[in-house]
Amino acid sequence: MHNGILSEVGNTPLVKLSRVFKDFNFEFYAKLEGFNPGGSIKDRAALNIIMNAFETGAIGPETTIIESSSGNMGIGLAQICAYYGLPFICVIDPKTTKSNIQILKAYGAGIDYVSEPDPDTGEFLRARIDRVKELLISIPNSYWPNQYSNQYNFRAHYQTMSEIVAQLGREPDYLFCATSTCGTVRGCSEFVRDKGLRTKVVAVDAEGSVIFGDRQAKRLIPGHGASMVPELHRPDLIDRFIHICDLECIVGCRRLVRQEAILVGGSSGAVFMAIDRNKEIIEPGATCVAIFADRGERYLDTIYSDSWVSTHFKGMSHLWLEQKDQQLYATAMS
Ligand SMILES: Cc1ncc(COP(=O)(O)O)c(C=O)c1O
Repeated sequence: MHNGILSEVGNTPLVKLSRVFKDFNFEFYAKLEGFNPGGSIKDRAALNIIMNAFETGAIGPETTIIESSSGNMGIGLAQICAYYGLPFICVIDPKTTKSNIQILKAYGAGIDYVSEPDPDTGEFLRARIDRVKELLISIPNSYWPNQYSNQYNFRAHYQTMSEIVAQLGREPDYLFCATSTCGTVRGCSEFVRDKGLRTKVVAVDAEGSVIFGDRQAKRLIPGHGASMVPELHRPDLIDRFIHICDLECIVGCRRLVRQEAILVGGSSGAVFMAIDRNKEIIEPGATCVAIFADRGERYLDTIYSDSWVSTHFKGMSHLWLEQKDQQLYATAMS
């Protein structure tokens, strides 16, 4: 049991969305992880990692926590460290949005800015991790949660799946889940395996992310996707994976706002579009659950900004866009 604001991590709502797929004969539910107090699903992993580190003595009340994150994990850790009075340094890069930096600072996090990518790989992730390792050496009594390999990241999501089954009152036929460290998909799929559920787990990754073997390419929407294969990745526990591109994320997010009045982040748009791509083949009567990892407020300057979309996607034509979305983009990009 946790105290104060941390007692509100988890137990997020599962909401039935009956408009977006109204012409199809399956039920669609969204697990709204943006209702966590830090605003995203990463609160669960951050809390589980820090509590375990306290329990095992890996950290104490004076330990400095250091993590590389450009977004939700950093914010989740910043919240927990603020609650326990632990110093926290978040290693960020130029891709971190201004509003995320402001949130981190508001929670009292120290910001360590990596301005150059790794010279060998051209990757910021590699450069940020190298910087974390330098800081660990120079700061005594410091600790790196290492969300890409920490077992307590994925173990937090046993609970996420357990909540879904309890809220539905049965196992869903499909679970659609975005991937980055693979903590969420691994924890949920281990629950499915251990409980002998029939749920098919579908991982939703970003086009240009290497987790499922795609060739690395530039991505603009943060949250899901990774430029290295995380140690937590267990492809044998996943039934299928689907790659979704940046523009599809944007369309998905905007369609959810338009039709369901739900303002969510890019990976949620991706998960929704993954279901949309499969809507013709999902069996009648099936139950689909999508995990919506965060809220849309962190993306107002990107996904929900017509000028940003126009700058980055102008002239792109995508035949899979519904007619209404074609119009939306024609307007956004004119
Ligand atoms: C918005 C968003 N969606 C999806 C994910 C992927 O979650 P995981 O790291 O558990 O694979 C993240 C991870 O940071 C995220 O911030």
